Amino acid sequence: MFDFDKVVDRVGTANVKWDLREKIFRNADVLPMWVADMDFETPDCIVKAVQERAAHHIYGYTFFEDKYFESFINWVKRRHQWEIEKDWIVFSPGIVTAANAAVLAYSEKGDGVIVQPPVYFPFFDSISRNGRKQLNNQLIYLDQTYQIDFEDLSNKAKEAKLILLSSPHNPVCRCWTKEEMLRLGEICLENEVIIISDEIHADLILPGFKHIPLASLSDELAEVTVTCMAPSKTFNVAGFFTSQIIIKNVKLRNRFKKVMESLHLIHGNIFGMVASEAGYAHGDKWLDEMMTYVQGNFDLVQNFFEKELPVLQLSKAEATYLAWIDFSKTGLSNKKIKDKLVNDAGLGLSPGSIFGAGGSGFMRMNLGTPQKNVIEALEKLKATF
Ligand SMILES: Cc1ncc(COP(=O)(O)O)c(C=O)c1O
Repeated sequence: MFDFDKVVDRVGTANVKWDLREKIFRNADVLPMWVADMDFETPDCIVKAVQERAAHHIYGYTFFEDKYFESFINWVKRRHQWEIEKDWIVFSPGIVTAANAAVLAYSEKGDGVIVQPPVYFPFFDSISRNGRKQLNNQLIYLDQTYQIDFEDLSNKAKEAKLILLSSPHNPVCRCWTKEEMLRLGEICLENEVIIISDEIHADLILPGFKHIPLASLSDELAEVTVTCMAPSKTFNVAGFFTSQIIIKNVKLRNRFKKVMESLHLIHGNIFGMVASEAGYAHGDKWLDEMMTYVQGNFDLVQNFFEKELPVLQLSKAEATYLAWIDFSKTGLSNKKIKDKLVNDAGLGLSPGSIFGAGGSGFMRMNLGTPQKNVIEALEKLKATF
């Protein structure tokens, strides 16, 4: 049994979510439900492994041991039914680093890169900062859920080199189906578009849904896909900056590695390696219980909105711990919604508008937190809206 109700005081640990409230919201007292890390303690199997390694008091240069790779390979097979090989796995400190490296590796200045807004906003920066052209394939919002606009995707794919895919999709909570991924994959194959499949949320699947790694669907797709995975969201270890980038195609892999090597981004973090290995080897039960707990938080929000606060609408949740909430029925501007949240409700959420086209009128609320905080947030929302 794991205690996800336990409230841990995170203040004063140099964590972005709680300790930067004044800087981000101009209000140091908001209940922070924004950046995507959780207020749950990392599973014991990871804490113990890190403590054990820390007890050896020399922390010199590190290489990735075979057992680190084995643990990840077995995890991907066990959890996602995808058989990968050690040689396919490239280190990156973070997924945003990998997305930027991929943009540099597989496109030239001025080339088109497809994104599907509303989507994780650092994708936009990886395109604009590197002088590429952002092509929006905006998701379709219907009946409190989102669909891919495949017709528009077919058109955009004609002038694109790459697509930055979020699967599952942050912030709209979709766990893309096999059919959707096959259709997207087919369009990319037809148009020779390389797929950067950001699957950092792959393990955060709500009960009843199933994550499909796009590259696992066919050999053809595996040849054109760069899959980005990491333990950071899965086990709440984002601060260790250790990610696994899976690239089967040797040419694509070498191009990616060349960019990473040019920046000397090749050495791992000793504790990141230990944490990954332990989590992937022993973290299944914790993860399953954690996602069941998160489902409880989503249910709480859904029921509360239906019964007590129908002016707010929760998008259907299939994956992640990030609730995507439609505030448009309040009739308020984005600025007014944010002001009211921060100053009247005392809540720190992520404004939907930062996720690009289609994000306006929405807020993202992090439910990776003890239920006590969710209840407090709901009461604050009711009193304010
Ligand atoms: C879709 C997505 N990709 C990447 C990241 C961040 O990755 P990293 O911290 O490894 O750069 C996040 C974090 O919220 C995310 O939601």
